[in-house]
Amino acid sequence: MNTDNLFKPFNLKSLNLKNRIVMAPMTRSFSPKGVPTDQVAAYYQRRAEGEVGLILSEGTVIDRVASSNDENIPRFHGEKSLAGWKNVIDGVHAAGGAMGPQIWHMGVMDNHYSGWLPAGPFEGPSGYGKPGVKNGQAMTDSDIADTIQAFGRAAADAKRLGFDTLELHGAHGYLIDQFFWDQTNDRTDQYGGKTLAERTRFGVEVIKEVRRQTGEDFAIILRLSQFKPTAYDNKLAKTPQEMEAWLNPLAEAGVDIFHCSQRRFWEAEFEESDLNFAGWAKKLTGKPTITVGSVGLTGEFLAAFAGESSQPSSLDELMRRMDRGDFDLVAVGRPLLSDPSWVKKIHEHRTDELKGFTKEALGELVMG
Ligand SMILES: Cc1cc2nc3c(=O)[nH]c(=O)nc-3n(C[C@H](O)[C@H](O)[C@H](O)COP(=O)(O)O)c2cc1C
Repeated sequence: MNTDNLFKPFNLKSLNLKNRIVMAPMTRSFSPKGVPTDQVAAYYQRRAEGEVGLILSEGTVIDRVASSNDENIPRFHGEKSLAGWKNVIDGVHAAGGAMGPQIWHMGVMDNHYSGWLPAGPFEGPSGYGKPGVKNGQAMTDSDIADTIQAFGRAAADAKRLGFDTLELHGAHGYLIDQFFWDQTNDRTDQYGGKTLAERTRFGVEVIKEVRRQTGEDFAIILRLSQFKPTAYDNKLAKTPQEMEAWLNPLAEAGVDIFHCSQRRFWEAEFEESDLNFAGWAKKLTGKPTITVGSVGLTGEFLAAFAGESSQPSSLDELMRRMDRGDFDLVAVGRPLLSDPSWVKKIHEHRTDELKGFTKEALGELVMG
């Protein structure tokens, strides 16, 4: 198996990567009261030492009262949390790595099992966290305007702290995605509408503000998914035309790279061809894309939360698609969660040393 294309540099605006492998954002809940600790910094630094090209942080939440349902998820606002993040990025840079925070607002959520609740109600386009289930309130115009500003402040802080890029979390059923999906957005104002293109307005306004706050030369990544954790087979865009009408306004607003989340990267997005989501996004927008989903593993990530283990698997199909130019970057989640040296092992063809993934790795910050 020839993996040369995975190890070519990638340069775009503020991003200068030594290879094409991205650590996928993975929530760890190891930041008490939202402050990333020295252990969190060491965990990311180990991945940089292990030659990960670009590290995307776990989702880290913006300055809205109810942007999170978990006290131990890191915040991206407030002096202590931002000092914690400064420690993280300095450690990653010292190890020769590059990193961006994944900027997040969860939207309407289920209450966390810990019993912790934010100081105000959850908020989203229409109060739904999942189809038919209200657990929060519909955002007013001033909530929306303030939220867009809060995304912008987080972006400005990411740049000020020295991060190389940032990713906006627009996937997996969280706030930005709740606006995209008709099952969680039944608004009748300018942030709602019958078409996906109409429901993209909130996302577009967030991107524009983030661009305004960071300038033209800062690379902005947007993560999207067609699937929802409550609806694996969901397609926000049912045709390439709908996908184009969704993605192009986002690209025009300032997205530099689309991070196209799938559970299994080899699954075709539409019937017309074997192109996956990242393949279509690149073809339709002309922008670089990141693919993700069970790279190097036999099982997918949502099953991992239910305790399913995975074994290492071949990268042949990934390289077939990458070599023909379907996508530019490849994100890897669980393999890097359980093994900081995964990239190094692939680079040095030490495939017999690759570990699988077991659920125990979810419960700790694996350093070894
Ligand atoms: C423990 C864990 C936490 C995750 N947290 C996030 C997150 O904060 N933001 C996000 O966009 N995706 C999150 N994901 C999804 C991953 O980024 C990735 O898309 C998924 O694990 C598929 O990649 P993999 O098959 O290589 O693990 C998480 C996945 C795992 C396993």
